[in-house]
Amino acid sequence: MARRRQLYEGKAKILFEGPEPGTLVQYFKDDATAGNGAKKGIITGKGVLNNRISEHLMLRLHEIGVPTHFVRRLNMREQLIREVEIIPLEVVVRNVAAGSLSKRLGIPEGTRLPRSILEYYYKNDSLNDPMVAEEHITAFGWASTADMDDIVALALRINDFLTGLFLGVGITLVDFKLEFGRLWENEDMRLVLADEISPDNCRLWDAKTSEKMDKDRFRRDMGRVEEAYQEVARRLGILPEAGNSDMKGPEVMQ
Ligand code: TMP
Repeated sequence: MARRRQLYEGKAKILFEGPEPGTLVQYFKDDATAGNGAKKGIITGKGVLNNRISEHLMLRLHEIGVPTHFVRRLNMREQLIREVEIIPLEVVVRNVAAGSLSKRLGIPEGTRLPRSILEYYYKNDSLNDPMVAEEHITAFGWASTADMDDIVALALRINDFLTGLFLGVGITLVDFKLEFGRLWENEDMRLVLADEISPDNCRLWDAKTSEKMDKDRFRRDMGRVEEAYQEVARRLGILPEAGNSDMKGPEVMQ
């Protein structure tokens, strides 16, 4: 196979040029970071599991009419995606208090929120992804008012659906982060769900015991990180064919 050109390397993923114009290949690494890169580590097999988990969730969302950038999974660590113009926002949806919300507002972790809360963060590593209001977003032109209406509607629909999907396998969806992109088709633009949905960017707690099954195990040095990601995949019914034996996957091509 011809070597592909690498376009971008992020903390957990690499983007390569796709086989056709308008497509990219998204490669999932085992690298894990927390605190905007302050803490670094490897979660063995994470890339393989996140590739599968994100594929599964994006396909289920597509089935209920949520537009996504996902085309198909190519192999253990790679998926084909549509190339989109990423909106520079992290959209966080919260159902239960945890993480930065608990810290900032003094609400104990685990408190069910009176209703789902949406927050926006400006994607900018050098500024540490600051929280912003819709006023900043529209004033600085990162997204229009119409875009924000679509983003809110999509985020709440995704939350409703994923909350039910995870509850069905005994998991509480505490909070998660979404990214959206603009997909141009001739003169028409539509917003689609981009990036990934995985235990890297969701808080997932066992519905009975509240045991953490996500990246907080890495962020907070709780141990059994790999096992937690595997358990999420197992409950979703999607452990990779090769089980744990091929978790290292293929080497990245430069
Ligand atoms: P927070 O409580 O640290 O603000 O995180 C809220 C959710 O968003 C949590 O599920 C983790 C996810 N998240 C990311 O995926 N990337 C990030 O950079 C941050 C800050 C949070």
